[in-house]
Amino acid sequence: EIFGRVRKNSAGINMNIQNEWAQLSSAYQPYLLRTWQAAPVIGGNTLHQGEVHEVHCPYEKNNVVGEVRYATVEQVTQAMDALAAYWPSWNATAVDSRASILEKLADLLEEHRPELMALCTLEAGKTLQDGIDEVREAVDFCRYYAQQARLKLGREELPGPTGERNELFHEGRGIFACISPWNFPLAIFLGQISAALVAGNVVLMKPAEQTSLIAARTVELMFKAGLPKEAVAFLPGDGALLGNVFCRDARLSGVCFTGSTEVARLINRQLAEKDGAIATLIAETGGQNAMLVDSTALPEQVIKDAIASAFTSAGQRCSALRVLYVQEDIAEKIIELLKGAMAEIKIGQSHLRETDVGPVIDAEAKEGLLMHIQRLQEQGKLIAETPMPAGLNGHFVAPVAFEIGSIRELSKEQFGPILHLVRYKAADLGNVIDDINATGYGLTLGVHSRNEETAAFIERRARVGNLYVNRNQVGAVVGVQPFGGCGLSGTGPKAGGPAYLLRFVTERTTSTNT
Ligand code: NAD
Ligand code: ALA
Repeated sequence: EIFGRVRKNSAGINMNIQNEWAQLSSAYQPYLLRTWQAAPVIGGNTLHQGEVHEVHCPYEKNNVVGEVRYATVEQVTQAMDALAAYWPSWNATAVDSRASILEKLADLLEEHRPELMALCTLEAGKTLQDGIDEVREAVDFCRYYAQQARLKLGREELPGPTGERNELFHEGRGIFACISPWNFPLAIFLGQISAALVAGNVVLMKPAEQTSLIAARTVELMFKAGLPKEAVAFLPGDGALLGNVFCRDARLSGVCFTGSTEVARLINRQLAEKDGAIATLIAETGGQNAMLVDSTALPEQVIKDAIASAFTSAGQRCSALRVLYVQEDIAEKIIELLKGAMAEIKIGQSHLRETDVGPVIDAEAKEGLLMHIQRLQEQGKLIAETPMPAGLNGHFVAPVAFEIGSIRELSKEQFGPILHLVRYKAADLGNVIDDINATGYGLTLGVHSRNEETAAFIERRARVGNLYVNRNQVGAVVGVQPFGGCGLSGTGPKAGGPAYLLRFVTERTTSTNT
């Protein structure tokens, strides 16, 4: 199977959808018939003011999956008041107790996996494999940050002269706003929040408009795991409207944002202008990710990894491959294999076992992608495409590949199943890397070469956060491939890495003359 449905989780265990599916299927199916609700929650109280929006399933537009009540700007101030009042208590709670809540939450996520997977499918259009991976990553984040908190956030005695005791310790910064995207509606939503909480912050939780239902269900599980209700405020709704209020609030100590580079820039400006403490910004943003393939590479392996990198999750991953650079000597062979492999991809409804590629998130996303496709088609650049089956009633975009002259021809990230191929001459490798760097993004880069010197040269010259050699370039595993980019792709530190929690804390020292 070209999507190679086997991967390892952070415990190093091989997971295989066939085995998992046999266990999950009967528990998952009934949830496909359910509907869900989401509404703002402050101090554990569900609020009943605000407009209600219907949520439609991306792969079956007529299916209403639930309703979301959007938060109002007045509720933002109410949330900030409540969080500010509770922060000292949460900050004084022992790290071990905070970590234990995350571990309990991880257990609950596993217990509720069929329901969470159904929500991933129905609300975000995720395929079954993506749903399995999503829950697993959320579980991994909770367990990893709990472990890291115990390791890193204790009290440490520092050296000093006789008669003096020097101690280093950490505490939360205060109120963190966690703002998440729709493409990892559970894993990133919870990854951000679990890190902020375990580090001693209270959290204003702002899920993406498109995926508030799964976020709301996750909040219920957080409370079930023992999280004090005052430690978080859940504000689904319009990001620009609500963000304009909380990002300017003097009491906000930090923002953990994952989403587009444009919105990260806007938030950065708002934080710079606000009164009060200078707020920390952790931003994980977009990419213009390439893969470099030289003539020593194994063509079949290249195709398998390029397809997985470009089209898993319908290309809706920040890590996804957008530009496949192929050394000219093997370009014809790669194009021929790509055509064959793309013809085999199965587009379909997300909840079906045989589906490789599901829908994109909504009509607006589809329209933007189709405009880009049309432009390149009119220029005669099409090289391969996946056939679209008849009878689908969702936001589907068929995987497609074009040949272009350089990554410089692409003005922005195309967040969907569109692959661009560029031929290059071996002597131009340095210039190719410079062109990739010149986009300003620096998230993932793939390399296929059996020449170790080439891989080492690329590692030295390329400015990227995550480099993958002779494998695919999506699906970073928590604690194994800490994830995040540089430049326009993010501020660091890396999610799921050993430095992440330290950005959420204030470091303090006490020196005592004994
Ligand atoms: P987006 O920037 O449109 O929205 C992200 C979040 O920001 C949403 O919750 C939205 O409501 C909120 N938001 C929007 N305007 C805001 C404002 N003015 N103030 C505060 N919050 C605001 O992004 P998206 O479409 O949800 O996600 C796709 C993007 O996310 C892609 O660019 C993708 O590359 C990126 N992404 C990056 C990573 C990473 O780890 N680097 C991971 C996933 C997605
Ligand atoms: N962490 C996600 C991946 O690696 C975005 O695909």
